[in-house]
Amino acid sequence: MTTSPVSPALALPHWETTPDDLPGAIRQVKAAIRARIAASGRTVEEVFAVVEQRVAERVAEIRADRERGESVWPVIDYADIENGTVSAEQLAKLRRRGCLVVRGHFPREQALAWDAGIVDYVEGNGFFESYRGPGDDFFGSVGSKPEIYPIYWSAAQMEARQSERMATVQALLNSQWKHESEGVTWFDPRRDSLYPDRIRRRPPGADSSGLGAHCDPGTLDLWMTEAYQQAFRHLFDGSVEEYDPWDAAHRTAGPQYPGTTMCSAFRTFQGWTALSDMDHDQGVLHTVPIPEAMAYLMLRPLLDDVADDDMCGVTTNQVFPASEKWHPLLLEALSGIPDVRAGDSVWWHCDMIHSVAPVQDQQGWGNVMYIPAAPWCERNERYAADVREAFLSGSSPSDFPEEHYERSWPDRFTAEQLNTTGRRGLGLD
Ligand SMILES: [Fe+2]
Repeated sequence: MTTSPVSPALALPHWETTPDDLPGAIRQVKAAIRARIAASGRTVEEVFAVVEQRVAERVAEIRADRERGESVWPVIDYADIENGTVSAEQLAKLRRRGCLVVRGHFPREQALAWDAGIVDYVEGNGFFESYRGPGDDFFGSVGSKPEIYPIYWSAAQMEARQSERMATVQALLNSQWKHESEGVTWFDPRRDSLYPDRIRRRPPGADSSGLGAHCDPGTLDLWMTEAYQQAFRHLFDGSVEEYDPWDAAHRTAGPQYPGTTMCSAFRTFQGWTALSDMDHDQGVLHTVPIPEAMAYLMLRPLLDDVADDDMCGVTTNQVFPASEKWHPLLLEALSGIPDVRAGDSVWWHCDMIHSVAPVQDQQGWGNVMYIPAAPWCERNERYAADVREAFLSGSSPSDFPEEHYERSWPDRFTAEQLNTTGRRGLGLD
């Protein structure tokens, strides 16, 4: 543990690697944050009440949208993004809700061809015969075939990642964030780092228990590393009104505590591209479409009814849970995506709570390629070095279990097939 040299009386203790004594570190950091908030002349309860009020207003708006039969999720046509004709109203809704469906991001035929291409790629390389079961305990499998394919380097995935259409949407999403402040350029909104992730193919008739509500930006490191303490400075110093969930300051370089669900990259938005049509009631993604809910998640553990060594259940090596016990107000806003078609893409702010609904006897396929918006920044440049190696050798990227199915597959995407966007994204140019 080291102590920051700035304003020594109110400095927060911080741990740049996972503390050995987690309960002890939680006790220390909570006491220090409480003291810093108290020094502003406000109590933790007052500060939390401000956040709760702000979130409650959003929840009420979402409920009103639902009652009017309006889509809670903003929907924008790709053509409007490409032509620069997205309305101010649409952009305002994107920022208010922190999530988006892009209609027709890719032509439907293109998406279906990619889906078929993935099937050829895995079947042609004997994937199902050699499949050894899930490499991590986060996603389960159905029967002998997985739902999540630990496949990263198919032509379909790489073509989508390096496509002009993907870059166009990522640039729009990145530009919702403040990427320059304090004299620092935190990231480049026009250059993506092509974060490689997996594929999901869930067959018709599948039963799935879904995924509980959680968020992915980190775990205890969100309270305990110096960079995150600066990123969330307005939550921890009594100036909560100034907290801006779209401010990238101090978020793009700092360390993360390792864990099975970690993401080494800074993502402005998580996202996926649909490779099949999916109806809204077939076990689809839900979010709590309130970017400011992060303030609630970060401050809630400081209230008196939470044990001194408890962060409302957040701990390393597990997903950050959102629960009925600690966050009932937030979960009231949980909203599913509308029906999507192959070629549409779905996006949500990297801090937002999300879940996957359970489904019984799923109608139709549920196929997606996970492709986020991960703009070029110090953290992503660092990770790009690992990604380059994994790409060139056909290995699983270092954020994922070491499964390496594709190393011997002759038809994986090659360096010669990279275009300018692909080369820039991998840091090769
Ligand atoms: Fe997640």
